[in-house]
Amino acid sequence: MAAVGLLVAAGSGERLGAGTPKAFVPCAGRPLLEWSLEVLSAVCERVVVAVPPGYDDKAPGRVAGAASRSGSVRSALAAAPEAEVAIVHDAARPLVSTELVERCLAALEGGWEGSVAAARATDTLKEARPKDGRVARTLPRDRLWAVQTPQAFRAEALRRALAVDDAALAAASDDAALVEAAGGAVRVVEAPADNLKVTTPLELRLADELLLERGRAPHRGRDRRC
Ligand code: CTP
Ligand code: MG
Repeated sequence: MAAVGLLVAAGSGERLGAGTPKAFVPCAGRPLLEWSLEVLSAVCERVVVAVPPGYDDKAPGRVAGAASRSGSVRSALAAAPEAEVAIVHDAARPLVSTELVERCLAALEGGWEGSVAAARATDTLKEARPKDGRVARTLPRDRLWAVQTPQAFRAEALRRALAVDDAALAAASDDAALVEAAGGAVRVVEAPADNLKVTTPLELRLADELLLERGRAPHRGRDRRC
């Protein structure tokens, strides 16, 4: 099956505050997006990267991203009409491994429309009233997962799910939520503990250190389970 990687790298990186889009900020010696581009390219037939408009967005393998993250996914998918399976990944997660992408792909077998990398909830989670913070209930942690990328989808299911207006795209917490809302069956795939997302300068420092450490390790890029 033709698996195409959709790497979303079109965000502005406001919380990182580097003055340049986050995906282009140097991390362990190369632009952040190149780490995950290398991993996706090793597994997928090709990769389409959604970049901020004006960031060489006419170059082969690149498209201009949109105002929302899911809008950027839709733009990238539109440039891959041949895709039978789509692997969506955030450029902000440079520590992704080929093993994790392959496990998400394999998890589609058996009629699933989507599979998402995820981490078991480790903190106790409570629901609180917005007006005063009064706790309404404590959630049962054993069934709760924090969802990440990569996310693998049957491309047809993702195309249908993304065929909504821009407001619905902007409101979606992730693409899997749109597939679920359209009735698609999505499952979680447990991710290694180091599949962190670079949001603030603290995570950029951590990712930099972990990537450099991986480069020095004998088994480069291997999954390290929690
Ligand atoms: N993204 C995108 N298009 C958008 C918004 C986000 O392609 N309109 C991508 C980002 O480049 C990133 C991923 O989606 O790889 C996850 O988004 P996030 O971590 O929120 O990145 P930014 O939106 O760049 O950061 P911030 O929200 O701090 O501005
Ligand atoms: Mg954002």
